[in-house]
Amino acid sequence: MIESTDGRESLTASALPDEARFDEALRPKTLGEMIGQERVRENLTVFIRAARERGDTLDHLLFHGPPGLGKTSLACAVAREMAAPLRATSGPAIERPGDLAALLSNLEAGDVLFIDEIHRLPAAVEEILYPAMEDFQLDILIGQGPGARSVRLELPRFTLIGATTRAGLLTSPLRDRFGWTTRLEYYPVHDIERILARSAGLLSMRLEEPAVCEIALRSRGTPRVGNRLLRRVRDFAEVKHGRNGSVTRELARFALERLDVDRAGFDRLDRALLTTLLEKFDGGPVGLETLAAAVGEDKGTLEDVVEPYLIHEGFLARTPRGRVATRLSREHFGLPLAAREPAQHKLL
Ligand SMILES: Nc1ncnc2c1ncn2[C@@H]1O[C@H](COP(=O)(O)OP(=O)(O)OP(=O)(O)O)[C@@H](O)[C@H]1O
Ligand SMILES: [Mg+2]
Repeated sequence: MIESTDGRESLTASALPDEARFDEALRPKTLGEMIGQERVRENLTVFIRAARERGDTLDHLLFHGPPGLGKTSLACAVAREMAAPLRATSGPAIERPGDLAALLSNLEAGDVLFIDEIHRLPAAVEEILYPAMEDFQLDILIGQGPGARSVRLELPRFTLIGATTRAGLLTSPLRDRFGWTTRLEYYPVHDIERILARSAGLLSMRLEEPAVCEIALRSRGTPRVGNRLLRRVRDFAEVKHGRNGSVTRELARFALERLDVDRAGFDRLDRALLTTLLEKFDGGPVGLETLAAAVGEDKGTLEDVVEPYLIHEGFLARTPRGRVATRLSREHFGLPLAAREPAQHKLL
């Protein structure tokens, strides 16, 4: 029975519908409920208080960083603390300038407009956004051909919150129009432990402290991954001991092994990338495209989801000539060290 759980799904694969529901249920509702990212939350609290005291709307905000670190959660919390409704959309959903014009002209004063994956806005749409963000004006073209004329509409003052995993893909005019830009970083283990303890409470799970620690260590510094592992561990616990048993370290370890998550928190895709790099390309350097083809995974997924953590933890290095597996990586897989170490490569 245990074998039948879907433990082998990639932990870093894009969210499943089921996953989205789970995310919603565990999403902290206010900045105070959020755990970690203290500096970001403190700054936002100051901006929100200042805006409210002035009776003004909040300046536009941009959140960037790897998936699952809390960008959407922050946006929801900010809207709630501004006592403003959150209108959520995403870059790929706004295909034409008219779609954005319709969205903007339906906003009310003080509304928060959340655009997820904002780096994927088409260029023509982005141009409409510039005057809207800066001067709260909307220029729309009425009619076609020589008779077409441009009409300027005044918009209510609103706050735009953009989120992206790829800040580098944002054009600089767009980036410059945000009043504050912040990058979310991977969470230290003790923050993930607190997040797991909170989630366990919400899921009415009894989790012993060493079990929390065991899961936190393998969560890739990412709340979403931690919560996902927690849910899977719960499956194992329920099958083994019924609903009321508490999760011990042994049980957590057993479940994590079955889930194919190793001691560094690597899942199948992390390992595939590193072992391909080490075994097929002698540790690199190798270009991302070649690596993606060899792993059989989309280049974007490797770049946005898999690599940032491996780079952050020092297992992978990005050099001008391509990706290189580091000494840590060789050690992790028990391979002999290379004659030439990546430290000698010039890092990007
Ligand atoms: N600071 C936090 N405290 C507690 N839980 C958190 C925190 N950040 C994220 N989470 C949990 O992780 C889940 C994923 O977070 P969220 O959806 O905000 O990430 P994201 O950065 O928007 O990801 P993506 O880039 O994939 O859109 C949330 O539903 C929430 O349960
Ligand atoms: Mg999100």
